[in-house]
This record gives sequence, structure tokens and C-alpha cells, in this order.
Amino acid sequence: MHGDIKLLAGNNSEYLLERIAFKIGIPPTKRILSRFSDGEIRVQILESIRGDDVFIVQSTNPPSDNLMELLLLIDAAKRASASRVTAVIPYFGYARQDRKDQPRVPISAKLIANLLQVAGADRVITLDLHADQIQGFFDIPVDNLYATPIFKDFFALRGIMDPEEYMIVAPDVGATKRARLMARYFGNLPLALVDKRRPEPNQAEVVNIIGSVESKKLLIIDDIIDTGRTIAVASKALLEAGAKEVRVAATHGLFSGQAKKILDDSPIEEIVITDSLAIPAERRPERLTVLDIAPLLAEAIIRTHDARSLSALFL
Ligand code: R5P
Repeated sequence: MHGDIKLLAGNNSEYLLERIAFKIGIPPTKRILSRFSDGEIRVQILESIRGDDVFIVQSTNPPSDNLMELLLLIDAAKRASASRVTAVIPYFGYARQDRKDQPRVPISAKLIANLLQVAGADRVITLDLHADQIQGFFDIPVDNLYATPIFKDFFALRGIMDPEEYMIVAPDVGATKRARLMARYFGNLPLALVDKRRPEPNQAEVVNIIGSVESKKLLIIDDIIDTGRTIAVASKALLEAGAKEVRVAATHGLFSGQAKKILDDSPIEEIVITDSLAIPAERRPERLTVLDIAPLLAEAIIRTHDARSLSALFL
């Protein structure tokens, strides 16, 4: 056994930690996380965590200080004799560079996995990793949770998924598995696939639509919305192909660059994301719904602490 649960977060994910701690029913562990005069990050855990089961929550989207805060918190927890340290990473940044598909490029997802392990992480809990195989970059246990059940409950409550009317769409080949899972949740809804190409980074174009979407209402499933171009060009192409309406469910909303304008100008009816990332008001698209991920993370933390299976969280 690993002592008591202790909860910490980096500045980036403090809003999530408060809700996770409330759900679990214990206060976050007190700590200092500030900057020295030159900008270096200063961490100090202000309570004893000796022999305890420490969970550190931090999404690692840019800037890279978010990652650095997580690494330093893990190091501090390890050196304070925590019995076990689990990095809870709702959004795992740098995951998209996960293979050497061009000459002289890094595999950033592997590098981040190495850094987390060198810092002293014993386990990782994350959410909708860009590719499941990234788990294999670690030599420690990784639990990759899915937001799909949360989306399912949300859409089911609003009666959106009538199989006569609706179809699930994968906006690119990589999203097919996630889309198939969602289609299965709703009693095997039909699936369509968008054949997307990237002529250059951050640009997207639709080459082909596989499956007939004529007169259908569509739900696009993706893991990340970054510039918004993937779902904007996909929704336009799908409506041109005869679809009645397009909604989007994506786990992580980065909304970088011109995303707000691109999505506000797009024909998408509604965008549903989770709060794995904090989105400043000025970057939020107009037709956005944000679902709470804290209960899922809290349950994963409790089950990990109790050494109970996490399988029920995937149903
Ligand atoms: C691509 O492989 C991902 O699953 C997302 O589709 C992509 O990251 C979205 O990026 P953007 O919003 O910039 O098109």
C-alpha cells in the first residue's frame, strides 16, 4: 500500500485539481509554485508526503513551462520520499510528433515519456492520447482514459443519437478507432470517413469522403481541435456532400491562432469539448459546450489508489 492520497497540480491545471479534490473529499496539498527573478520555476511542497501516494495533475500544452512545472513537482515529490508518484496529464502535449516520418525530425512523444520517467514518475494517467501506441514509449504503467463515455452521456441525454438520422464521422484516418467506439456506444451507428491531407503543417484539405452522408445529421469525433481547420474543412465538405447538419465532439480544445474565427465562420452547429485544458474567454468559439472531466479523473485516482480496475471507466 502507498499511504494517503496527496493531490498536487501545476499552475496550468489548478482549476481541475480543485474540482478533483472536492470530488475525492480531501484538500489539495499545499505547495509553492512561483518564479525566481530570472524566470526559473521554484517549487516547494509545504506538507509532509513521506510514504504517501502522490498524484500530480498538469496538462502539458505550450508553453513548455507547463511541462517543466510537472517535472519539477515530480522531482520534489520523489525527493520528499513519496511512496509513489503518478503524473495525471489530462492533455499530453507533444504527442503528435510520435514517429520519424521525415528526415531529421524528433520523436517528441518519446522524449517526453523519457523525461517523465527520469524525473521519477511511477505511473501516468492521461486522457485520449493522440495515439494509443504512445503508451509503449513508457516502461511504467500508463492508463489512457477515454472521454467517449462522457460524450455519449451528453448526447444521449439530449436525444441526439437516433440511428435513423445520425452518422458518426472520423475527420481523418487517425480518428477512425475513436469514431468506431462512439458509433458502437450508440448501437452501431453508420460511420463515414474524411480523407484529409495536410499540404503543410497546420493546413488541412479534404480529398474525399468515404461513405454516403446524404440527408444525415453528423457527429464528427476527434481528439484535438488546434487551429480548427480539420473540422472546418471537413464540415464544409460534408455539407456539400448533402449532410443536413454537422456537430463536433473533441476531447482537447487548444483553439490556437485563428481557431475562433475559423470555427465561428464554419457551418458547424455545435462544438463539444472537455475541460482538459483551460480556454481563455477570448479564444472560445461561439457555439461551444464544455464538459467536466474532473469526475472521471477523480474516479481514476481513487481506483488507482485502491488498486482497483479502471475498466469500468471505459464503459
Ligand atoms: C490530427 O491528427 C488530430 O487528430 C486533429 O485532427 C488535429 O490535431 C486537429 O488540428 P487542427 O484543428 O489544427 O486542424
